Amino acid sequence: MREKIIRAILDSGDSFISGEQLSKALGISRTAIWKHINALREEGYNIESVNKKGYRLAERPHDILSLENISHNLSTEFIGKNIIHLDTVGSTNDYAKEIGNKVNGGTLIISEQQTKGKGRLGRSWKSKSGDGIWMSLIIKPKIEPYKTPFLTLVAGASIIKALDNLGVDVSIKWPNDIILNHKKICGILTELSAEMERVNYIVIGIGINVKTLEFPEEIKEKATSLYKEGYKLSRVDIVRQFCIEFEKLYKAYILDGNKDSTLEICKKYSAIIGNHVYLIKNNKKELVECIDINENGNLIIKENNGEIKEILSGEVSIRGVKGYV
Ligand code: BTN
Repeated sequence: MREKIIRAILDSGDSFISGEQLSKALGISRTAIWKHINALREEGYNIESVNKKGYRLAERPHDILSLENISHNLSTEFIGKNIIHLDTVGSTNDYAKEIGNKVNGGTLIISEQQTKGKGRLGRSWKSKSGDGIWMSLIIKPKIEPYKTPFLTLVAGASIIKALDNLGVDVSIKWPNDIILNHKKICGILTELSAEMERVNYIVIGIGINVKTLEFPEEIKEKATSLYKEGYKLSRVDIVRQFCIEFEKLYKAYILDGNKDSTLEICKKYSAIIGNHVYLIKNNKKELVECIDINENGNLIIKENNGEIKEILSGEVSIRGVKGYV
């Protein structure tokens, strides 16, 4: 009910909406409306009330990653239309896996803080309150499980496009690190629930460092945030842009089998194609040249002896010759 009330208030923009209008539209008493308004104020909404006029939002708390702020007038069909916004959680990916079978595809879980944020390859992911965007998208594509790794590239390409639309000069370190000024600002952790032939759901976990100013010693040299690099962006704008861009690329891939736009973005914004990098696998480090990303979304490299190889995502880490990338 609270969602409906805030939506109605947002819809009326700068005009007031009266308690009576709300009560008629939503079928509850004016006292009940008043109680919900008070609860919304406690959540941080600055709702103005004027005698005989009604309610309106005095100031939109635009950086709360709530359903109302993100989904309001969002031009997508299903991505980001259902948002679960939490204050704190162990990991949004774990939470998403608990509810994955019960919610619609396109549901986004966002938490202000994670106490057990997970990174790739069993690493942990620092997720302090309010510092970033810690979110997991649940999707339910009707595809065979072997086709799902490409969705990590779809997610990476969508983040690139979202940030590019907002004026940030980002690149992608295949398969799923987003880079700004040679340091990582975003990582993606994709998890799958499937049977042999059928996907139940996929969780795409995304961590974007937005406002972080201090990083722990061990990642200081390789991690950064948008604020640290001078981009003071609203988290809500980033999530909204992501939803729009993801839906376009997702539909192209899932409905039309079209990988072109995603591949084009991953190549155009690549931080490694055309460069020499270290491939790290089982504690072994090998200097190779990155040549291309192929149709399957795999990396094509040239080894020192001239041999060309295809590298699958998930099996290697990549490091730049001079630093992180
Ligand atoms: C990586 O680069 O290692 C992947 C990092 C993924 C972090 C995000 S934050 C939201 C979601 N929940 C998690 O526990 N991890 C992902």
